[in-house]
This record gives sequence, structure tokens and C-alpha cells, in this order.
Amino acid sequence: MTNLGSIKTKLLSVHRYTEPEVERITPKLEEIDRIRNEKRAVILAHYYQIPPIQLIADKAGDSLTLAMAARELGPGDGLVVSSTVYFMAEMVKLLNPDKKVVIPDVAASCSIAEGMNAQTVRRIRETYNDAAIVAYINTTAEVKSEVDAVCTSANAETVIKNIKGNQVIMLPDYFFSKNIFGKLGKALQDRKCLAYRGIERGNIVLENVSNGSEEKISIEEAAKPILPDGTCMVHNKFTPIDIYEYKSRGNIDVVLAHPEVRPSIAALADVVGGTGKMIQYLRTNPQAKKILFITECDMAAPLREAFPERDFFTPCRFCDYMRKNNLDNLLNSLRNEVHEVKLDPKIEAGARRSLERMFELTDGKNPEE
Ligand code: 13P
Ligand code: SF4
Repeated sequence: MTNLGSIKTKLLSVHRYTEPEVERITPKLEEIDRIRNEKRAVILAHYYQIPPIQLIADKAGDSLTLAMAARELGPGDGLVVSSTVYFMAEMVKLLNPDKKVVIPDVAASCSIAEGMNAQTVRRIRETYNDAAIVAYINTTAEVKSEVDAVCTSANAETVIKNIKGNQVIMLPDYFFSKNIFGKLGKALQDRKCLAYRGIERGNIVLENVSNGSEEKISIEEAAKPILPDGTCMVHNKFTPIDIYEYKSRGNIDVVLAHPEVRPSIAALADVVGGTGKMIQYLRTNPQAKKILFITECDMAAPLREAFPERDFFTPCRFCDYMRKNNLDNLLNSLRNEVHEVKLDPKIEAGARRSLERMFELTDGKNPEE
């Protein structure tokens, strides 16, 4: 049984909920817990979910933590509710083909995932047939089925370092790819590294990160992805002014940023990495008391919980897709076992192979822990 008393205390003391707010949501939390126990269901929640969802979940984490938790589920676990965006729910299903996986709102998409499709990857593959193509986890299962491996924000450096090939192409998030290739620097000097930049004037554009030169491949109009580039509509909005403003008010000890931010922002941050890396940094740097974090606003929840005595600041930006999930549709999802994630049998095995390749290339570990 979940300790609802401790959830209520955390909501009030760590997450600054008011008493009436907590009273209003308590019956929903009780009902979620009751049905979860009755069905032996498992709730997985991303760190960008509202704090009560993160607290009631069996596991809250970044995408790699959730992938690892999904991989550990056993025969005793029933329905899986993935309180995440859709590509993460697909990832959970890929790792649990025999379980019923549901998501509270199927419209919980992702601007990075919408910026890449299978036709684009196939077109790149035709031109660069020797290259290793690595997709960020923020892609559809169909895209995953076309690439050689996937990576997450927590293990991208390890995946890129360990994957074989004289040429490596990263897609779809241009900023993420630039930040990861940039961090690897010398470790990649003998290889040609290309970051997917998007579709520009009817061409797929890749950037050779060592000299900034462009390489173009033409693409049919009908084959283009939904969005012309695959960047994060939350992280790409942060500007250097956000950081200067906080710093000019004084007292910021450290700036933490997610690798989906623009490289110009990454250059101003002290730490660029996922949650694990942020937490690890703060654990080993007790002098950092006033922390500016440049990532989705709900990341405040795990950070404040890990370090309740420190002060966290952010130019708060929420992901509208992540926010499609709430306690009402989570409860509906759990009670009525909707909306079920189904995989196309034609792409399922290929997508699973790329996901498993990620675990092989990282020895099944989380490099941020
Ligand atoms: P994480 O891998 O850090 O969970 O990132 C996923 C994501 O969508 C961040 O915007
Ligand atoms: Fe996608 Fe950005 Fe939302 Fe993450 S924060 S799910 S990358 S749109």
C-alpha cells in the first residue's frame, strides 16, 4: 500500500501545494492507489509529469530510468500505465510485448518525435549506407525500426562512443546532437560525425560537426516529416537572456541544463546532462545552494525532493504534451484500461532491436548513476 500520508506531506512541504489543493486531489490519489493494487498495475511516470503523478507512480524518472524499469517488469505485474508522452509509452510496450500498456492521453506527442519519419531515415540510409545511424529515444517506433541504435539524454555519449562505424549520424534533434558530439570532442576525431539539421528547401540537411559544412539530400514533398526540424519546442525556447537575468539578480551558484537546449545555452551552463547527472553534481557539490535549472519546469519535483534544503530557480516552461496527462485521465486510463498502445507488427522487431542495441552498447547501465 502506498503511503498517501507521506505523499500529502511532500505535496505541502516540498512542492508548495496548498491545503485545499491537497484535499481536492486526495480522493483521486486514493482511488488510483486502490485500483492499482486491485489490478496489480504498474504506473510509470516521467519527471515532466505534475508532482502528484510522480509521487503516486511506482516509478518516476527520465526516459532511461523508465526504460530500465519497464525492462524489469515481471509476470506478477499486470496492466502498465505509462504516464508519459507517446513515444515513451511505445518504448514501454516494445520492452513488454506481452503486457497491456496504456497511456492517459494519446495526444501526448513530442515536437522532436514529429520532426522525423521513417522515409527520411531511409533516404539518409540510401546515401550513407556505411554510416551508423543513432536516433534519440524521442522518436516513433517506426523511426526506431530504421536506425542502428537509439540513445537517451543519459547515455548518448556512451552509445556514440561505442557504436562502430567511421561515420556516425545522429537524429532528429539538431541541438541535442550538436551538444553530444561537442562533449565527445576529441574522442570522435577519427570519425565523420553528422548531425541532422532538418528539411530545408526540399533537402534533408546534415551538418558535419567538425567543420560546420552542410551535406544535402533531396526528398520528395510527400515523404517529409510533420515538422521541418526535430527540436524540442520547450528547450529550444530558452535564451541566454534567461540565464543573464537570473545571474544579474545575484546568488546563482550553478546553472544546470538539459542537452536539448541550444548549444549557445549549453555553453553558458555549468552542467549539461539529464536528471541523474544534475543530481550527482549537486550531491558532490554541497556548496551549490542556489541552482538555476534550464529544462522543463516539473523537473523541479525530483530536484526539490532530493535537496529540499536548497533553492531551485527556473524560467518555468512546461511541455504542453506532457501536461496532457492529469490525475483524471490517469485514473480513467487505469480504471478502463485505455488508451492501449499497439505496435505495428511490421516494425516492432526492428524497433526493439534498436532499443536492445542501446542496452548492449551501454552494458545495460545508466552512465549518469
Ligand atoms: P529524458 O531522456 O531526459 O527523460 O528526456 C526526454 C525528454 O523528452 C526531454 O525533453
Ligand atoms: Fe518532447 Fe520537448 Fe516535451 Fe520532451 S519537453 S516531450 S522533447 S516536446
